[in-house]
Amino acid sequence: MLKSVLSCCLLLLGGVASVMAQPTPPIVVETQHTSLVLAVGPDQKLYHTYLGARLTNAADYAALPHQHEAYVPAGTDNLFEPAIRLTHTDGNPSLSLAFASVETIQVKGNVDSPANDNKETVIRLRDPQYPVDVVLHFAAYYQEDVIKTWTEIRHRERKPVVLTNYASAMLHFNAHQYWLTQFHGDWAKEAGQQESQLTSGVKVIDTKLGTRPHWYQTPAFFLGLDQAATETTGQVLAGTLAWTGNFRLAFEVDNLNALRVSAGINPYASEYTLPANQTFTTPEFIFTYSTQGKGQASRNLHRWARRFGVLDGTEPRLTLLNNWEATFFDFNEPKLDGLIADAGKLGVDLFLLDDGWFGNNPPRNDDRTSLGDWQPAKTKLPHGVGHLVQTADKNGVKFGIWIEPEMVNPQSDLYRQHPEWVLKLPNRPEHYYRNQLVLDLTNPKVQDFVFNVVDEQLRQNVAYVKWDCNRMITNGYSQYLKQNQSHLYIDYVRGLYKVLDRVRQKYPHVPMMLCSGGGARSDYGGLKYFTEFWPSDNTDAVERVFIQWGFSNFFPSNTLCSHVTNWNRQHTLKFRTDVAMMGKLGYDIEVEKMTPAELQFSQQAVKDYKRLSPVIWQGDQYRLRSPYEGNQAAVLYVEERQTKAVLFGYNLHTRTNETVLPVRLQGLDPARRYRVAEINLMPGTKSELPAHTQTYSGDYLMQVGITVSPLNAPALTSHVLELTAE
Ligand code: GLA
Repeated sequence: MLKSVLSCCLLLLGGVASVMAQPTPPIVVETQHTSLVLAVGPDQKLYHTYLGARLTNAADYAALPHQHEAYVPAGTDNLFEPAIRLTHTDGNPSLSLAFASVETIQVKGNVDSPANDNKETVIRLRDPQYPVDVVLHFAAYYQEDVIKTWTEIRHRERKPVVLTNYASAMLHFNAHQYWLTQFHGDWAKEAGQQESQLTSGVKVIDTKLGTRPHWYQTPAFFLGLDQAATETTGQVLAGTLAWTGNFRLAFEVDNLNALRVSAGINPYASEYTLPANQTFTTPEFIFTYSTQGKGQASRNLHRWARRFGVLDGTEPRLTLLNNWEATFFDFNEPKLDGLIADAGKLGVDLFLLDDGWFGNNPPRNDDRTSLGDWQPAKTKLPHGVGHLVQTADKNGVKFGIWIEPEMVNPQSDLYRQHPEWVLKLPNRPEHYYRNQLVLDLTNPKVQDFVFNVVDEQLRQNVAYVKWDCNRMITNGYSQYLKQNQSHLYIDYVRGLYKVLDRVRQKYPHVPMMLCSGGGARSDYGGLKYFTEFWPSDNTDAVERVFIQWGFSNFFPSNTLCSHVTNWNRQHTLKFRTDVAMMGKLGYDIEVEKMTPAELQFSQQAVKDYKRLSPVIWQGDQYRLRSPYEGNQAAVLYVEERQTKAVLFGYNLHTRTNETVLPVRLQGLDPARRYRVAEINLMPGTKSELPAHTQTYSGDYLMQVGITVSPLNAPALTSHVLELTAE
């Protein structure tokens, strides 16, 4: 471990700090294009002096004014949003933080390139009067231009201290205007985009859902500085919290028009009692800064995510056929054998068996029973899961399974045997959501149970898991936590991570989909353990153009499960397929009901997708035309070496004689020539696009562009173009 302690200038004398008058050089956290600068003031406080484009001359960092205390403690002279607030053992409700030391260490990550140029800066702060330490971590991912930051809090007081605020990060800005882009929604309408100018006061985006960060609000945002950023222009910060539970993002514009951003676990109902010598570690806040708009910020995050943020992010994914929308709960062994054979016929890699396969008292035939009883339903699967694994094997596909191991239906053996494992309030009626209750993951016995549910599946050669979580915490009370009920929200998520750590120790690479009643769990806290997530139960292709657009701002396409379904049969199979191919392709459809032409089209689409998936999964994404700004959408993926690109164009609701300009591409090599070919054509149809079979220079394609929405093209039509450098 490379270690360089730069400075340590705090002496503790009889519990009272005395500070040596020794100037500390600015602490610069740097990536290829960005600097975050912190400095120690004459008062020994740590100041945040800069976050922006790297300055050419590093000596200039020393000239930056000390305006904003970096990680602001509450209770002394702070008048705005604090980063941290606690009450000491003696009842003193204040904290003061003085700089103690800084060191730089090498960052560890999924991809440890020989030239790992990623550095972590660790800054220790200490209360001069009380034995409380706050340690700020900044991991800088140099090539990706991403910084990951988190905080540790610990103390050596006689009794526990009580934490009431514990931000992962606090960042400060001085700009004329601040433009916030936030994402919000509900079941089946996740990640809708909204942009507004921040006004004075505090704007809070948070959730209190307990088991999941979103649906209603999303723990990710863009912040345009001075003006609203576009896809290609403007200074913009993109940030997201890696936490699979309650989060809070606060944006406070103060009396001097300075902006203070704090991000972390939502402290709502979550006072945390911290015993001496234990460390409270916050989740990571991940951010990137771009001077070229939101598109660049997203690409930075995508690259970081694939290399460091998502399990096996640079490895291939499995295309699949899921049975959920095709059968819901209504299936038996022969039916599934047929569907598994259909997966082979379609050419996908895996068959995924969804909800409804388990429980015997009674079997799960609808969503009212059996969660918790993870034995195959004898009435439906007389030969168990092993038989299905064998059928899959015979058909040349893998077998995956759906579980929802954190939940229980009152109608289940588990509930009858372990009522003490369920989160529910004493003296109040049980409160159901989707007829189910949440298990108490703060309890180590429940953690063991959940681990065993997963382990049991993976021991029998199940090759893929869809891990669902279909409800939030309401009426939350843990029989295990007893007096510490305010730890529930935090310890629930920590309990979940403990289980996932165990799963990953035993099965480091089994692909797993993170799902939560649609897309309510899509966060980098979860994606450390998962290869992908389910963005929404809404698979209507038009809705998916918007939903996938929203998530694509922060997550790479190989994490976005996108399935071709019959949710809206009015959309052609081609349109639905073209939309699903922008993400991680899957099917949730009755293959046997396809016409011969549809089957032929789909088999070819799967083949083309497999050929092009390295570009779609690992390439740079350019969001060229926003569905929020007009009647079309266009998205481009360009392979890193710029030899291959895939362009997706959609007419959503084209008006009569509406002028639709060619789409100008981005990210190509201007000097190269690219051959354009339209793919995903229905058998027997020909491309109507003038660019089809033509060759253009990258320069032309980027300056002039090509038509993907012909004049008066019918609504809900689409085109996929493959570009190959000659
Ligand atoms: C949730 C998921 C769906 C499906 C059902 C099964 O709603 O989001 O994809 O798995 O549960 O009950």
